Amino acid sequence: MAFRVAVLISGEGTNLQALLDTVHGDSVEIVGVAASRAEARGLDRARAAGVEAAVFAIADHEDRAARDRALGDWLEALGVDLVVLAGFMELLGPELIARFERRLLNVHPSLLPAFSGIGAIEQALAYGVKVMGVTVHFVDDGVDTGPVVLQESFSLFPYPRGIAEVEERVHEVEHRLLPRAVKLIAEGRVQTDPGNPRLLRIEDGERD
Ligand code: GAR
Repeated sequence: MAFRVAVLISGEGTNLQALLDTVHGDSVEIVGVAASRAEARGLDRARAAGVEAAVFAIADHEDRAARDRALGDWLEALGVDLVVLAGFMELLGPELIARFERRLLNVHPSLLPAFSGIGAIEQALAYGVKVMGVTVHFVDDGVDTGPVVLQESFSLFPYPRGIAEVEERVHEVEHRLLPRAVKLIAEGRVQTDPGNPRLLRIEDGERD
């Protein structure tokens, strides 16, 4: 049976597209895409791929907790094994996070723990870092603090780059790293270290 994945988005959805183009198919199936806003362009990408698409905006519910409950019910009805936050620009409440413990994965445009939260690329450029990167991690109840699955860095040295160029580079890395992480999890190759739940053991046949 296919490993069932849902993707949460807020905007363009290029990471969703990368997942649809690479892992979606045989052993992994993207069974639903939910957006925090009706204008999210990624919804069209989902529909074009024949994937169920839905909007869960806080404004359509009494409050965030009510939105999270409705979203959680929808995800459960889809029977998801994993929920991927791919450019989902809102915080999820602690109840939803607990409900999907170890089944929530996020992609973040920095080398965590540096530059968590919103505007990570802007934060990194303002700091003047010479190495940047991307992190794919499980979600816990902190902001971008969950166990790291994969990270990949790239250099800004010797010249600082403009934001558009860096965003392009970040996307290039994300579009490889996120599908790879989903595949590793689907294949059962990501295990928690029994001595320390923060640490993950990754069994990856591919060489870096
Ligand atoms: C991605 O770069 C992702 O890392 C970032 O939003 C972008 C979404 O792009 N996420 C965050 O900053 C989360 N804090 P996309 O909609 O084209 O996939």
